[in-house]
Amino acid sequence: MTQENSSAFPEAGTCRTAGKIMLVGLGPGGHDHLTARARGAIAEADTVIGYVTYIRLIQDLLEGKEVIKKPMSEELDRAVEAYDLARRGKKVALVSSGDAGVYGMAGPAFEVLFQSGWTPGSDIQVEIVPGASAINTCASLAGAPLTHDFCAISLSDLLTPWPTIARRLDAAAYADFVVALYNPKSGRRVRHIQEARRIFLRHRDPETPVAIVKSAFRPKQRVEFMTLDTMPDADIGMLSTVLIGNSNTYVKNGLMITPRGYTNKYAIESGHRAARGAEKAGRSLSTGLDGWLEAIRTSGKTPAELAGIYRLPEDYIAAALEAFTGAGETPE
Ligand SMILES: C[S@@+](CC[C@H](N)C(=O)[O-])C[C@H]1O[C@@H](n2cnc3c(N)ncnc32)[C@H](O)[C@@H]1O
Repeated sequence: MTQENSSAFPEAGTCRTAGKIMLVGLGPGGHDHLTARARGAIAEADTVIGYVTYIRLIQDLLEGKEVIKKPMSEELDRAVEAYDLARRGKKVALVSSGDAGVYGMAGPAFEVLFQSGWTPGSDIQVEIVPGASAINTCASLAGAPLTHDFCAISLSDLLTPWPTIARRLDAAAYADFVVALYNPKSGRRVRHIQEARRIFLRHRDPETPVAIVKSAFRPKQRVEFMTLDTMPDADIGMLSTVLIGNSNTYVKNGLMITPRGYTNKYAIESGHRAARGAEKAGRSLSTGLDGWLEAIRTSGKTPAELAGIYRLPEDYIAAALEAFTGAGETPE
């Protein structure tokens, strides 16, 4: 938006001098985890725009720069301001904590750019500078909780309806993902974490390990291990990420570990690696896709029975069987 033009989004084709927008992920906070390119992008910028707390994290890198601090809620304003400055030839760093593309400024920035008619070939250059997201940095402090399938769900209902959030929580819990909950609690949003627990307990053991990581790599850093049952009693706030394990996750010696599955396939107790039973090193498990298709084909059970056994949709099982047996025994 130009100073003369007060509409929310700038008009297309009014750019006079090429500028640049850099969407910079700052990582968790400390400079040790700021990437070299993030530091370079901040050095390159004429103007740095960000939420007050994020600006404070990089205060010592901002000498001689125009700095625009915005409150938490004004993400779209930050993006519009960055676009406006870039149209006037400025190099602008739009900073986010963690990664700018994970619940960060990259989304609002592209929404503003696209609504103004910007394309990647336009005069304004856009660079995305990745940073370590809270899911990674918090996991690193808890141990190795993400070594199997995982997902991230934000409990913030500022822009997402609760039924959408609840449906995703339910699906992730049912499907046994390790889950990182972003934005788990704030001064005004206190019930959401209790609802998340209620949904998870529909599918998961109350003893499922949970790690609550607060202010990772910042001065007030704290890691607390709980269970799904006791999770809402923990000290959780705006700067916490909650990591809920899957059905195999455990905590040992103060570390939360999600096994990758090696011990199911290999006997490693003896100090060397030997494949167990019918398994072969470097090959899919006997219960992998081909082995499983063969097992259901020869089981003599109906798709409905198999659906109950494997907790999979009956129509998927029926279609897989049909494809397997109908196409010369080669699965699609
Ligand atoms: C708006 S999201 C921003 C996420 C950020 N873009 C990222 O990639 O980490 C804010 C949420 O990120 C998580 N978070 C960000 N920084 C954190 C940190 N240093 N320690 C723990 N959680 C953090 C918290 O769940 C917080 O509520």
